[in-house]
Amino acid sequence: MAIRVTPLSGHTGAEISGVDLSRPLADADFARIRRALLDHVVFVISGLAPEFQALLDFGRRFGTLVPHVLTQYHHPETPEVSVISNVVDSGQGRTTGMPAGAFWHSDLSYDVRPSDATLLYSVEVPESGGDTLFANMYRAYEALPEPMKRRIEGLSAVHRYGWNGGAAVVALTEEQSAAHPDVAHPVVRVHPETGRKALFVNPGFTMKVAGMDEDEGRALLEELFDHALRPEFQYRHTWRAGQIVACDNRASMHRATGGYGAARRTLWRMIVGGTEAGRVAGDL
Ligand code: SIN
Repeated sequence: MAIRVTPLSGHTGAEISGVDLSRPLADADFARIRRALLDHVVFVISGLAPEFQALLDFGRRFGTLVPHVLTQYHHPETPEVSVISNVVDSGQGRTTGMPAGAFWHSDLSYDVRPSDATLLYSVEVPESGGDTLFANMYRAYEALPEPMKRRIEGLSAVHRYGWNGGAAVVALTEEQSAAHPDVAHPVVRVHPETGRKALFVNPGFTMKVAGMDEDEGRALLEELFDHALRPEFQYRHTWRAGQIVACDNRASMHRATGGYGAARRTLWRMIVGGTEAGRVAGDL
């Protein structure tokens, strides 16, 4: 069956059909899928069996998969996959007050090499609730007033894991923390593959604007967050089991919405490493 890419909204997300991961995926088909991620920022593929190895092989085609800092949630078979689950008897269910990722963030923005992309696979999902929101940061940047674009050009911001995730955050061990010093990235990032500019700050991990008075920097970040989180830049994904949803972390942020009580929800997450480096922030 041929690969077909159908946009999901006027601006963010595409449904990709005709993908069969139980057979080898031709290079040309994979190239279409990758292109869809660049063009639509988020893609959805449905009807995929929970074949761990096939899903892992698919994820690896996007680049090196980076083990998440929270080593306790790594999948028993490989640290390249993390388990996002509230099913405590699995040994990897979270007991945090809020589900994992229930704050706006872009994966690994707190890392010297922020992630290029994230792939989430739905193993089991609740009948209602548990949606994931994605915000298109190209659109957010492009819709900024020109004076604001000029104001933020050339600025950097400092990112830290767990900075502002509230009850969804799992505290890092000393070892995990030592491996993740604060890092600085440009507030406006030029996507290395599309050449488009995107806002690259997020409420979950972005602490401050480098070199700016703290109150002024905070006010600027809040203004940018309020703007970027306008509903017209968002795609809301309602899950069915057996789906992969992928996002381009260089041009988006995402958030788990929760709202499913004790109903079971388990996703497998693969984080594709970044090709571009920021810098350790030191005392910026
Ligand atoms: C995440 O931030 O990767 C979790 C998304 C979700 O569980 O909906």
